[in-house]
Amino acid sequence: MLLLNCKYMRHVNYFNKNVLLNLRSYELIHFMNSKAKRYTVSAAFPYANGPVHIGHLAGVYIPADIFVRYLRSKKKEVVFICGSDEHGVPITLRAKEEGINPKEAVDKYHFMIKESFEKFGISFDHYSRTSSSTHYRTASDFFKKLYQERVFIEEVSQQYYDEKASEFLSDRYISGTCPSCQNPNAYGDQCEKCGSTLSPKELIKPRSALSGNRPVLKDTRHWYLPLDRYEDFLKQWILMDHKTDWKINVYGQAKSWLDEGLKPRAVTRDLKWGIPVPVKGAEGKVLYVWFDAPIGYISSTIEWAESQGKNWESYWKNKDTSLIHFIGKDNIVFHCIIFPVMLKAHGDYILPKNIPANEFLNLENKKISTSRNWAVWLHEYLEDFPGQEDVLRYVLTANMPENKDNNFTWKDFQGHNNSELVGILGNFINRISVLTEKYFSKKVPIPKIFTENDCQKLKELQRFPERIGNLIEAYRFREALSEFMKIARMGNKYLADQAPWKTHDQDPERTSTVIYISLQIAGMLTHLSEPLLPKTSEKLMKMLRISPISWDNLQDIELLKPGHLLGKTDLLFEKIETPTINKQRKKLIKDSVDSEKNHPAQEK
Ligand code: MF3
Ligand code: ZN
Repeated sequence: MLLLNCKYMRHVNYFNKNVLLNLRSYELIHFMNSKAKRYTVSAAFPYANGPVHIGHLAGVYIPADIFVRYLRSKKKEVVFICGSDEHGVPITLRAKEEGINPKEAVDKYHFMIKESFEKFGISFDHYSRTSSSTHYRTASDFFKKLYQERVFIEEVSQQYYDEKASEFLSDRYISGTCPSCQNPNAYGDQCEKCGSTLSPKELIKPRSALSGNRPVLKDTRHWYLPLDRYEDFLKQWILMDHKTDWKINVYGQAKSWLDEGLKPRAVTRDLKWGIPVPVKGAEGKVLYVWFDAPIGYISSTIEWAESQGKNWESYWKNKDTSLIHFIGKDNIVFHCIIFPVMLKAHGDYILPKNIPANEFLNLENKKISTSRNWAVWLHEYLEDFPGQEDVLRYVLTANMPENKDNNFTWKDFQGHNNSELVGILGNFINRISVLTEKYFSKKVPIPKIFTENDCQKLKELQRFPERIGNLIEAYRFREALSEFMKIARMGNKYLADQAPWKTHDQDPERTSTVIYISLQIAGMLTHLSEPLLPKTSEKLMKMLRISPISWDNLQDIELLKPGHLLGKTDLLFEKIETPTINKQRKKLIKDSVDSEKNHPAQEK
């Protein structure tokens, strides 16, 4: 047998660049694009009209957080921003339902959401809100600039008005009979019985949700963003420049909007809740929520930069910066068409480089619904499963709805935890810590002669950082996680095959070598788990007494040096028993039945 003495891994840098060839060509282009100097990464501002649930996490916040943690580990300059979306009809509806005013509603949910994200480990650099004074100023200035440059079309049209309440009515505040199916309770924008899209004027016998009276049509002036005038720009930018690097679902939706032809879109509303339209003659009107909210990304960056003594403009106006928006699929048109047109019309800003949108996550095979309380709420999970944040993070990443809708079930949650986190990752870490403690009093042993198989293992290990990194850069988080788990599988198999406990008496040098190599595997798991399972990574760092090192260096260095003393062994994951998940399932059903009893008339 060929014996190689490759005692230190820095002498066996066999890294094979061919890994790139395994990926489809469009991602190769993506990698080249991704060598930006600086990154501005945003996650969609959640509406402050309720707590956040697992669908939000799997769709937007976990992928964004993995991406950002990875970039940080590559020592890139990056800012990760988010905040609460506090305007729009969803807020006023919720406040009305709870019998409080909109301000009270957003205060309640903003702090709740912020805290859930923090506890769960979503590592925003700044979490703002659209009621902040910086945001009011930024959004108003943005509107004023477009107004002064004569970007908007001004038009008077007729809209439904409730004379008793002295208010114009937004679509959701008008109901009436559906012209298609005669459902008497259709809304101004949609009939939920037959699914047709409606406009308020199409409703037969319209009623106001405020007074129940029949509303009247009244003249009102609004400002429109002429999307149609930007079609050529959008065609070039989307169809030519980003055909190959955007995700297929995102590109497809953006293209179909363009193919249908764009129309001017109103960016002001007759509502009481929102940012006042900052021009003369617009008294009582507010900015459309989808005009103000994306500007929140800019305001949030400004607040962060001010607190850090940095220049926010290099994150929004510098061509060397990659702007990346993580969103859910219902937000695609706003981020691929409307906001880019706003940025382009303004003129000073860079455009997003990528807009990775996920599909939806279902829960126990049904659509997640806030109003029907069919959801796993993050704040409740944090209470019911303290210290088990990474279990949820793992399961949601493994089931991430990257290319199609996906499903979360409690049974599957239990299965992933017990067979993968406990059975594979936890098991390997536990075995290697116990063995190192037992045979070497917690000290990394000095390896002796490496067999060909040993070298092979080390070589394989060194390929993981770049391979997982490439998958993260291509927004393929599920595959990144499954590659990561291959390392733990490899560790278990290596230990089982080499059985260092068998050689310990006859051939202690062999045991030293095997434990040394297994510890390198544990070290790699510790570093690479940081973006995927940050709380676990932290525990592992303590257990192995090591600190983070740059992702790009992981393949070249010896992660645990002979003689290094390990720390205290900690339990990474615990088995989840069936009664625990049965309890969660029962709670889900009970909560949704209760919500049905309390709000029987709500959307189905
Ligand atoms: N609040 C919106 C939603 O939950 C997302 C807003 S994203 C932003 O669908 F760009 F407007 F911030
Ligand atoms: Zn209908």
